Amino acid sequence: MKGVILAGGLGTRMHPLTRVTNKHLLPVYDRPMIYFPLEALVAAGIKDILIVTGGSNSGDFLKLLRNGKEFGLKHLNYTYQEGEGGIADALSLAEYFADGEPICVVLGDNIFENGIGPAVHGYPGSGARVLLARVDDPERFGVPEISGDRIVRIDEKPKDPKSTYAVTGVYVYDHRVFEIIKGLEPSARGELEITDVNNRYIGWDALTYGAVDGWWTDAGTFESLARASNLVRDKRLAELEQDASAHSG
Ligand code: G1P
Repeated sequence: MKGVILAGGLGTRMHPLTRVTNKHLLPVYDRPMIYFPLEALVAAGIKDILIVTGGSNSGDFLKLLRNGKEFGLKHLNYTYQEGEGGIADALSLAEYFADGEPICVVLGDNIFENGIGPAVHGYPGSGARVLLARVDDPERFGVPEISGDRIVRIDEKPKDPKSTYAVTGVYVYDHRVFEIIKGLEPSARGELEITDVNNRYIGWDALTYGAVDGWWTDAGTFESLARASNLVRDKRLAELEQDASAHSG
């Protein structure tokens, strides 16, 4: 399985923070945001990774991440998204890279306390797989309607959410994802929506799901960025305490 990190977009929701830099380069406590999805893919055993960036700061990703040595990688792949066509539009740029293999896609502003193993390791080998997290504000996300042990549809930012789960920003797809994207129409917000891709797999009865392990957050609004920084800080402090007690014991 190959990995794709989507780190394009203009980040207009976060002006002025994103006026001179890309959202995914903003700090989340002790690291630039993009480090988190990259570390999550590597920890799940994925070594062949493509980063999709865009805008006028795309060169900064190369300066920051170089060949990925710091993450235990031999090289990293990069590609450039023109404009801002949405998540599915950014993903369409990965077709050549994927070369027929399944891909694990992670949104560059998603942070998982304990990684993305339940998405990657639970993938049945074909179709699509998503991870769900319980949230207080489902109307901000893609929200699944669940019946028995199946997701029967996903609504993007519904006014009247059908559950208290969010579809998080990690998705595993087989090669059919690129054909699906070619047939998509832009949504009301003018973007090719990843939720439309997932609903197509649901229609084929080819979407499975898992649950996140630990906390999950996005970091694409002022509020969620602040929350992400606090969650990461608490995690780091807990790790330091654990280390200290291991050494003193
Ligand atoms: C996107 C997806 C949404 C998903 C969320 C996870 O939303 O469209 O379905 O729940 O990422 O972070 P966006 O960040 O584009 O508002």
